[in-house]
Amino acid sequence: MNNKPLKVLFIIVAILYALNTTESVQINYIKVPQAVKNDSNISVIMDCNYSLRPDDTDLVIKWYLNENMVYQWIPPKAPQSFGALKNKVDLKYKATDDPKSVHRAMKIFNPTNDIAGEYKCSVYSFTDEDYFIKNMHVFVPEKTLEIFKSGHDERTVNFTCLATETFPKPNLLMFKSYKDHYHRKGLSTVQWDVSKHNSGRFTTYIVSSLNREYLQDGSIIRCELRIPDTGYVKMRSILYYSEVDKDSGSTNRSQFFNVIIKIIFLLIVNFVFCNFM
Ligand SMILES: *[C@@H]1O[C@H](CO)[C@@H](O)[C@H](O)[C@H]1NC(C)=O
Ligand SMILES: *[C@@H]1O[C@H](CO)[C@@H](O)[C@H](O)[C@H]1NC(C)=O
Ligand SMILES: *[C@@H]1O[C@H](CO)[C@@H](O)[C@H](O)[C@H]1NC(C)=O
Ligand SMILES: *[C@@H]1O[C@H](CO)[C@@H](O)[C@H](O)[C@H]1NC(C)=O
Repeated sequence: MNNKPLKVLFIIVAILYALNTTESVQINYIKVPQAVKNDSNISVIMDCNYSLRPDDTDLVIKWYLNENMVYQWIPPKAPQSFGALKNKVDLKYKATDDPKSVHRAMKIFNPTNDIAGEYKCSVYSFTDEDYFIKNMHVFVPEKTLEIFKSGHDERTVNFTCLATETFPKPNLLMFKSYKDHYHRKGLSTVQWDVSKHNSGRFTTYIVSSLNREYLQDGSIIRCELRIPDTGYVKMRSILYYSEVDKDSGSTNRSQFFNVIIKIIFLLIVNFVFCNFM
């Protein structure tokens, strides 16, 4: 009979408690560069923007890299970095002027591929915790990218695309175009291989085989290299002319030069001859 007001009070307290926890520490967003070039001597900033309630106390900000703690800040103490990021973070960097968020961000010197991976910012208060995760990819562009004709018979022509020393393993795909006629679909790959260097970098090639029926003189064969998740794309192309044309083309060229040399010779002779007459 008498416990009805108690129940109401209990519900009110429960609601307030629920509101309390949902309104506590909250991360708005984190900023982590998606991709950076290995050893490019730039600094990157990993930011962790959070909102606090005025009465949030015992604040702790931690950053993890691949689940290992690499940075900790317990206001109002100085921040510290650990493990893979020890000596790699500018501990004086200020993200804001607010004493409750001034050292929330990490400024990392010269990122290299050993500190690529999953970055997690965790914010703890006395009553609550929130976290956000983002990945950073560190890549090495190719040393060389080449496309060349690697074989032919009366029915088919092979093209090889070779990329050396990228990190991580890139994706290669070849395309054919003729005049403004593009085949968006890549050419099928008949052979491929990838090898890993001691440096951790990869060298890889693909071979595409084209039927002569579909390969007009003047076709352009393109090779596209993509490093996954980085937005890094590179292209090489080769202009195709059939072998017969090409072989006679080279003889034609030397004949052409011979003719030029003869003409120059004749002109000189003529000049000398005329001047002495
Ligand atoms: C990235 O750069 C560092 C520093 O120069 C180097 O030690 C490392 O081998 C590079 N990584 C790759 C995959 O080449
Ligand atoms: C790297 O950058 C810093 C500052 O931006 C500069 O002082 C230093 O000379 C650079 N190092 C190399 C190897 O380029
Ligand atoms: C943090 O995020 C809030 C909400 O998105 C925004 O109003 C504020 O300007 C941000 N602070 C900084 C320093 O970026
Ligand atoms: C083209 O490449 C495939 C796969 O390596 C090979 O089996 C075939 O003999 C090659 N064709 C020519 C004409 O070189």
